[in-house]
Amino acid sequence: MATTFDVVVIGAGPGGYVAAIRAAQLGFSTACIDEWKNDKGGPAPGGTCTNIGCIPSKALLQSSENFEDAGHHFADHGIGLTNLTIDVPKMMARKKTVVKQNNDGINYLFKKNKIQFFHGRGSFAKKGEGGWEIAVAGTKPDTLLAKHVIVATGSNPRALPGAAFDEKSVLSNDGALAIDHIPKTLGIVGSGVIGLEMGSVWRRLGAEVTILEALPTFLGAVDTQIATEAHKAFTRQGLKIVLGVKISGVAAAGEGVAVSYTDAAGTAQTLACEKLIVSIGRVPNTIGLNAEAVGLALDERGFVTVDGDCKTNLESVWAIGDVVRGPMLAHKAEEEGVAVAERIAGQKPHVDFNTVPWVIYTSPEIAWVGQTEQQLKAAGRAYRSGTFPFMANGRARALGDTTGLVKVLADEKSDEILGVHIIGPMASELIAEAVVAMEFKASAEDIGRICHAHPSLSEATKEAALAVDKRALNF
Ligand code: FAD
Ligand code: NAI
Repeated sequence: MATTFDVVVIGAGPGGYVAAIRAAQLGFSTACIDEWKNDKGGPAPGGTCTNIGCIPSKALLQSSENFEDAGHHFADHGIGLTNLTIDVPKMMARKKTVVKQNNDGINYLFKKNKIQFFHGRGSFAKKGEGGWEIAVAGTKPDTLLAKHVIVATGSNPRALPGAAFDEKSVLSNDGALAIDHIPKTLGIVGSGVIGLEMGSVWRRLGAEVTILEALPTFLGAVDTQIATEAHKAFTRQGLKIVLGVKISGVAAAGEGVAVSYTDAAGTAQTLACEKLIVSIGRVPNTIGLNAEAVGLALDERGFVTVDGDCKTNLESVWAIGDVVRGPMLAHKAEEEGVAVAERIAGQKPHVDFNTVPWVIYTSPEIAWVGQTEQQLKAAGRAYRSGTFPFMANGRARALGDTTGLVKVLADEKSDEILGVHIIGPMASELIAEAVVAMEFKASAEDIGRICHAHPSLSEATKEAALAVDKRALNF
């Protein structure tokens, strides 16, 4: 006899595990199925984000930033160091510990919220009496009966045609986070979020990094002024970014690989590198769900088709996170997870994609929310812009990190904030104020009139908001 649950969630990434917690909080009997295995074959809930995404990448970004600071910036503070070394296995062991702490945290949350966890692959068996039969194929095969199913099966890295990931020379994000020594030369295909974050890690540790990007513009989705600043900063740091390339092949060469491509001028080139990270986007993961057998509709790119409420074409089947349309971000997946659980409970939550913040955790960090200046121009929207450089911010000077700026875009007439774009220290934290402001439909003047602590980086946001009305105080 199958055990019946009000809600069965397939996938325990940030979308799935958070959906399960919210469902349990709302009083539903809840199960969560996840197939991720740790080194010992045991469960490792948390999905891509926890195991080979957000968390380990931020651990390595922190370690490598500390190394770079010690090597290049401590001296400015009068701190002298001789024989600075980096122990890559130790750095990786720390990363592993951080990941495990997060896996353990989710296991604890499952117990605390009385969510039954099943380790294995979940797939649709059939529509039974009173719900969906979900088969669990794992160490302990099982069948669950679900009144509601939430599909949260995430995404996988996209490979270059003809260059499958071997995780030795041709690396996905998984391999990129587990290189056991500092490669002399590192090639990266794709100058998106992963390319820049991983490129920064290994460049800081001493690798010669070359990034090959297909598009002729750098960070096209980012506000152009911010992207230009970022390009300058990364190039100054030593990241070699080649735009407008067309990759024609990847072949084994000695201990590494050779990437053949034509550059923007159409000239044939070869990049020889010890390791190659391919970060050209991700594809939705529906492998093993048995979607076809039950008629779960997918779109032409393989995403589970959903409406604005994350409802699929099947009754009482919902889908959230990377496996559906919208930005592939952990916090977007979480918001959708909470919203779906609340919809199942008859509530009317709302997820506004326009206020989903983006962060690139490079140094300087890049963060934004809302519309870019180029989007506003293209839409013919009348706007005013205010910027404030960290160079003129006292806290940034004290930190010794004055690269970048804050930019506020506001409606020309109503002054409503339409977008905030930050490049600079702690942009990942500063963006939260802008998200709150936009959620509350604040005007630039509202931020300008709010008392911000001095000295703090957040004063740069206040000053940029004042600059919209040409009344910045410190610039
Ligand atoms: P996932 O996290 O992919 O989880 C899906 C889970 O479902 C997995 O555990 C998988 O094993 C399981 N699963 C799949 N199919 C089945 C099945 N049939 N049965 C059982 N289990 C199944 N986003 C950010 O917001 N901030 C960041 O800093 C950030 N950094 C990133 C860094 C890297 C290197 C990468 C690759 C991604 C990063 N992301 C970041 C993106 C983020 O990881 C994803 O947006 C997020 O993990 C999506 O969550 P999800 O729950 O939809 O899916
Ligand atoms: P991405 O979409 O950010 O960037 C991919 C880049 O590869 C693009 O610039 C694209 O033009 C380029 N590209 C595509 N095909 C190419 C080709 N054949 N040759 C050369 N360049 C090519 O994807 P990425 O970096 O793989 O990351 C996937 C997703 O993971 C991100 O979009 C983001 O949603 C998420 N992520 C989020 C992070 C964060 O929030 N800090 C960190 C890392 C990943």
